[in-house]
Amino acid sequence: MPQGIDYRDYRARKAGADFSAKAHETLDPMDWKSFRKQAHHMLDDMLNYIEHIRERPVWQPIPDEVRARFRGVVPRLPSDLSAVHEEFMRHILPFAAGNVHPGFMGWVHGGGTPVGMLAEMLAAGLNANLGGRDQAPIEVERQVVQWTREIFGFPESATGLFVTGTSMANLIAVVVARDVALGFEVRRSGVGEDTRRLTAYASTAIHGCIGKALDLCGVGSAALRLIPTDHRHRIDLQALGMAIQKDRDAGLTPFLVVGSAGTVDTGAIDDLAGIADLCRRENVWFHVDGAYGALAIVAPDLAPRLDGIERADSLAFDFHKWGQVPYDAGYILVRDGVLHRNTFATSAAYLKRVERGLAAGSPWPSDFGPDLSRGFRALKTWFTLKVYGTDALGAVISRTCELARYLESRITGTPELELMAPVELNIVCFRYRAEDSDRVNEKLVIDLQESGRVAPSTTTIGARLAIRVAIVNHRTSRAEIDALVDSTLSLGRAFQNSATACKAAQTAQENHAPRAFEITIADRGETAGNSTRLSRTALSAG
Ligand SMILES: Cc1ncc(COP(=O)(O)O)c(C=O)c1O
Repeated sequence: MPQGIDYRDYRARKAGADFSAKAHETLDPMDWKSFRKQAHHMLDDMLNYIEHIRERPVWQPIPDEVRARFRGVVPRLPSDLSAVHEEFMRHILPFAAGNVHPGFMGWVHGGGTPVGMLAEMLAAGLNANLGGRDQAPIEVERQVVQWTREIFGFPESATGLFVTGTSMANLIAVVVARDVALGFEVRRSGVGEDTRRLTAYASTAIHGCIGKALDLCGVGSAALRLIPTDHRHRIDLQALGMAIQKDRDAGLTPFLVVGSAGTVDTGAIDDLAGIADLCRRENVWFHVDGAYGALAIVAPDLAPRLDGIERADSLAFDFHKWGQVPYDAGYILVRDGVLHRNTFATSAAYLKRVERGLAAGSPWPSDFGPDLSRGFRALKTWFTLKVYGTDALGAVISRTCELARYLESRITGTPELELMAPVELNIVCFRYRAEDSDRVNEKLVIDLQESGRVAPSTTTIGARLAIRVAIVNHRTSRAEIDALVDSTLSLGRAFQNSATACKAAQTAQENHAPRAFEITIADRGETAGNSTRLSRTALSAG
């Protein structure tokens, strides 16, 4: 219990006269006029934030005193809305991860749009619960289901559902595939011996949430066979076929192959048509993890790379990544809606469906996933698709890939930099060449993030650390790519110089010579071990 709260006292007061005296009050404002003024002020602040995002640092560390503000006790008494908003502006807004900023290029995060933000506000005002019932918000979600079928070439029988993100969408797909393999009776009887015989397959480049999904549904993450990839980080189909055969020979039951449409590390797209053929031959469920890459289908220059996606039994992806819909807006599409519904529908008296009235409109979204209470994620997606149209979203997706190729050309044209993986889509992995390269590049990325100019992340390619640049944000331009390359070079050179100076100092010390390095550093008012300060100097010079 946080210090400073006496809950016994709190409960006593709650039951007493202090609280009952206010029983007639609602939580709506007493003075709508001044509330409206404050509301407009808050809206303006967020529009200003987005409009002027380029003037801010991408990211900055949270100062200790700011962090400490979020360790307070439960507020028992009211505060002024404007004061709480002020707190947000001063202590929350400046310290977000920064994915609205065009310099954010670490991890696969979408940039959001002002349109999506406004739609979120409308959804919150409506406070709709999209678990079920006969209401227009569910018609909006059904409209998006229809659009996703069209976009991905799925049949009318396909069903779809908004979820938090692709981790959850993948979990839903794995559960459907499990139930199809074992029979829907497993929902009642629970997992047993049969489940332990199930095996699943994906490439070594698969996202970690697939193993987690197998774990959560009782199959176990050890059932996942990680198949080697080719030189373009795509699953090796021959090795996949052999692994399935080997497991069959051992008396196991292969039930699922997960293909990647844009791997998290390098953006590789598996041969989806090849996997579809193999799954049909083997009678195995074909799921596609298309977390961010699947939406490349709306970009005419990229769509052919996704050939075969239309043959998947299920497809998971996020509108909140390349689709630029504000967080969160994950999505699962299942080819056979009956199987999808059989996996999740339950019958409870309080959820009884009728022909007319508010309880009409079956099936409900809650029949297709684990959630009963669900927010109106469909609205911000519907707004985004209607206001921008898929052509504009496709153009953004193509442009981010074009920027990735531009970055690739800058890397290959700079001898100090090394490209670490082929550039398939919008992800570029590279590093600064150095003796102690893993350590140097790791520090370099932290310094880049702390510089506030650009924020890439790291990954490991072939056991070597790489700087990973995922260009997802529609605001990113060549200016940010140039800033990334120039800053990387400045920092890398500064590290090299300090390493050389360190070596010289060591040699001098060993030779009992005067300590030239310490004198040099001291003259600049810095310490040899402080790479951050060294790199800040390097950045401001570069
Ligand atoms: C390929 C892939 N799969 C799954 C996920 C998980 O998606 P989410 O973060 O929406 O749960 C990601 C996230 O980046 C991803 O890139």
